[in-house]
Amino acid sequence: MEAGLRDGRRDRLSPAPPIDPDTAPERRRAFIRAHTRLWAPPHVPEIVLHLADEATDLWEKTEEELGALGVPPPFWAFAWAGGQALARYLLDHPGTVAGQSVHDFASGSGLVAIAAAKAGARSVIASEIDSFAVAAIGLNAAVNATPITVHFGDLLSGPVPDVDVLLAGDVFYEQPMGKAVLAWLDRSRAAGTDVLVGDPGRSYLPRERLEPVAEYSVEVTRALEDSEIKRTTVWRLKPPLRRPR
Ligand SMILES: C[S@@+](CC[C@H](N)C(=O)[O-])C[C@H]1O[C@@H](n2cnc3c(N)ncnc32)[C@H](O)[C@@H]1O
Repeated sequence: MEAGLRDGRRDRLSPAPPIDPDTAPERRRAFIRAHTRLWAPPHVPEIVLHLADEATDLWEKTEEELGALGVPPPFWAFAWAGGQALARYLLDHPGTVAGQSVHDFASGSGLVAIAAAKAGARSVIASEIDSFAVAAIGLNAAVNATPITVHFGDLLSGPVPDVDVLLAGDVFYEQPMGKAVLAWLDRSRAAGTDVLVGDPGRSYLPRERLEPVAEYSVEVTRALEDSEIKRTTVWRLKPPLRRPR
């Protein structure tokens, strides 16, 4: 899906410097408010988010805002199929997270984290590597009156989060990332964390390591996907495989 997003961009700016979300948080929030509208993803009408209708134009505006090329696509401006399915599952099965500590990895708009908080999670952390996503999660959490702590940075090579439930919506769309995410989720599962994944069957989904929990037909943004409805599954990560002695 990212390849589709990259089509049609103009290469006329300099490479992106590292972006710290603390550099200009109010400017990030103003940008998000200016280029999105508040509406509910079709599969999760209980939650409203700052969302965009179109990706390429927004991506170019993000580059112009930063005066740089090579910034991440504006994933945060869309409610991805995997995230919508996972959020739906949590709202319909609140016992999955109620009273538990929860981490939503690669949170994007914050949709899954917000659903976890609404379902009664004791605490919710959302992590992201995109400074615009960090700002969007903050705005969206406030609109939905859900307390969420946002972590900026890549956690994949460090210790796994010390939480009861780890959630990941739509994270298996690139090979290196998919491999690193699975290794990290495996380590979390081995540490006793319940790991749930929402995914519509992206190219690098490790199906053999997952068991299906629920399935939904999710309405998605046509400009980003190959169809308007994506059959999407909520999966639970199986315990890590033991090597034969
Ligand atoms: C397709 S979006 C999914 C967003 C959200 N989970 C959903 O389902 O709507 C993938 C997200 O992963 C984030 N991401 C990619 N690599 C990451 C990493 N190493 N750590 C945290 N977030 C990451 C991106 O910034 C992007 O927001």
